[in-house]
Amino acid sequence: MATKKIGVIGSGKVAQILAAGFLKHGYDVMVGSSHLDKLDEWKTKNTAAKLGSFDDAAKFGDIVVLAVKGTAAKAIIKSVAESIAGKTVIDTTNPIAEAAPSHGVLRYFTTMEESLMERLQIVAPKAKFVKAFNSVGNLFMVNPSFPDGKPTMFICGNDKNAKKKVMAILDQFGWESADFGFAESARAIEPLCILWCIPGMIRNEWQHAFKLLKK
Ligand SMILES: NC(=O)c1ccc[n+]([C@@H]2O[C@H](COP(=O)([O-])OP(=O)(O)OC[C@H]3O[C@@H](n4cnc5c(N)ncnc54)[C@H](OP(=O)(O)O)[C@@H]3O)[C@@H](O)[C@H]2O)c1
Repeated sequence: MATKKIGVIGSGKVAQILAAGFLKHGYDVMVGSSHLDKLDEWKTKNTAAKLGSFDDAAKFGDIVVLAVKGTAAKAIIKSVAESIAGKTVIDTTNPIAEAAPSHGVLRYFTTMEESLMERLQIVAPKAKFVKAFNSVGNLFMVNPSFPDGKPTMFICGNDKNAKKKVMAILDQFGWESADFGFAESARAIEPLCILWCIPGMIRNEWQHAFKLLKK
């Protein structure tokens, strides 16, 4: 395995699930937070993980995972921009606004002309952002089991090599990946979270993932 060190920026469910997944797959992992007490319980089950600040995790990782609240993502990326320069950053975030959903449809603070990942790419131009893991609930992010086979993770980003690295991780994590283009494609991939959440919000159904069929 070429990349062994993963820095995870975030302490929520996504950060915890993905960090545990990377540990399970033999990576060296540091999780970064400004409220490390949130990780007390998680750490008792994931003793090999290192803990630090957002910037410690950004510096530590050869690959960095961004798993913070969408409204906070830009400021956090600005604060670690130097530490992620030249690195692949797996962007799991969604631009969910601080407003109530409408009939199960989440509201976003971005527009169809500019995604959150594009904003992050502008703030940290040397980082190689790849959108991934944003279109499924955290319980299915690592080696999910579905009766009809592997689900599809839609990814995008400007750097071909960074996308290759993320595809290799997705393969390890039991996903088929679909490369859907450049950073602008996050305008279409980020809203997949809205679609994914609708059955959950209106019927309490959360047991699904997307699959791309091809011929
Ligand atoms: N939950 C899911 O199943 C899921 C699935 C796909 C994508 N996502 C996306 O993944 C990202 C992480 O989601 P999550 O559910 O794991 O956690 P979250 O509650 O959305 O985010 C928690 C993280 O955001 C940071 N943060 C910064 N400012 C904050 C504020 N004002 N309020 C709350 N947190 C703040 C926290 O920092 P500290 O560590 O310092 O507390 C923490 O690391 C989000 O962008 C979400 O849309 C979530």
